[in-house]
Amino acid sequence: MTVATGRSLRSSAELIRAEEPVLAHNYHPLPVVVARAEGAWVEDVEGRRYLDMLAGYSALNFGHRHPALVEAAHRQLDQLTLTSRAFHNDRLAAFAESVAALTGLDMVLPMNTGAEAVESAVKVARKWAYEVKGVPDGRATIVVAADNFHGRTTTIVSFSTDETARAGFGPFTPGFRVVPYNDLAALEAAVDETTAAVLIEPIQGEAGVVIPDDGYLRGLREVTRRAGCLFIADEIQSGLGRTGRTLAVEHEDVVPDVVLLGKALGGGIVPVSAVVARREVLQVLRPGEHGSTFGGNPLAAAVGSAVVELLETGEFQRRAQEAGVLLRDGLSALVGKGVRGFRARGLWAGVDIDPALGTGREISESLMREGILVKDTHGSTIRLAPPLTITNEDLQMALGTLESVLRKGA
Ligand SMILES: Cc1ncc(COP(=O)(O)O)c(C=O)c1O
Repeated sequence: MTVATGRSLRSSAELIRAEEPVLAHNYHPLPVVVARAEGAWVEDVEGRRYLDMLAGYSALNFGHRHPALVEAAHRQLDQLTLTSRAFHNDRLAAFAESVAALTGLDMVLPMNTGAEAVESAVKVARKWAYEVKGVPDGRATIVVAADNFHGRTTTIVSFSTDETARAGFGPFTPGFRVVPYNDLAALEAAVDETTAAVLIEPIQGEAGVVIPDDGYLRGLREVTRRAGCLFIADEIQSGLGRTGRTLAVEHEDVVPDVVLLGKALGGGIVPVSAVVARREVLQVLRPGEHGSTFGGNPLAAAVGSAVVELLETGEFQRRAQEAGVLLRDGLSALVGKGVRGFRARGLWAGVDIDPALGTGREISESLMREGILVKDTHGSTIRLAPPLTITNEDLQMALGTLESVLRKGA
């Protein structure tokens, strides 16, 4: 079966070949061409169905085309889609109020992508350091963790420790100090009177779902409080229900000064991100100092507000906890049977496959052939992050398929 495109009927193989000469090769997608999706399931152009165990790197926490989110988008499409921030729009106040209430913080800077939220937070933290903390002009530093992933812009790759992300893209932005993740002593040694902020993922997603020791986030809160610098939690991948809580920092009852949201905030429909912070922090921005034409557009605000409404029910956080137990139990049973080890919290797991069975890419391709979509990270690690709406039966089926793929060897 083929599908109608603007020009012709094309198969998956033809569509993949057609991309090659015209699309930048900055990704290496699995060879599947998705044409339709609903809930946790996607369908390719030939009508083959796959269970989506990646969920758009957590941008699809509520599944594909969640009815409440699609309805909110449709309703807004019929009213107003863009004003730019040159004018007010009637959706933005409610969006900002709901995001601030969800995180327990005061003010919101709406942006679009995750990288933009991180970039914006870097600017805000520096300005706060000069205006509020009194750091001499041009001397502000930001402490980050090794193996971080915060996005792909020039400034963000400046403090990446992944050579693939950096090589060929210098010169880099100065002003960052890198310390080992999950090491409070190193963090304490790195902060000083120039430190504007510590920027950290509460769980490192791209690194392979690396969960710090219990007490690390509380300790980090203490260190930043004592040093008089900001604690910025990048919850772009870990937040909005994924780990069984609204924010991953809640596992340690910690409230950062700044929380970065993205991915699922747009409901898998539109790019929506936000810097959410205490008033003292975000009020350093004045007209003309920062902005984005699309940031806070009414369509994004309408979908983002509907996302917050879903999270306010607590249903998705509960579901991530309950299904997370199944995920953990299923993976525990595979340890020693092709799985070397795993790290999991809520519906999110990094699974280290025995390298003798193949690379993460090879395992992902084998799973794809069996109708399960996952993504590898480094080496032989794969990442599981299904929509929080996945049924127990589908999750069990995915674990069963993983078991049989490992038994056969990739
Ligand atoms: C923790 C974290 N921060 C930032 C980003 C960047 O988000 P985006 O790809 O929307 O720019 C990502 C993306 O994976 C992420 O995982």
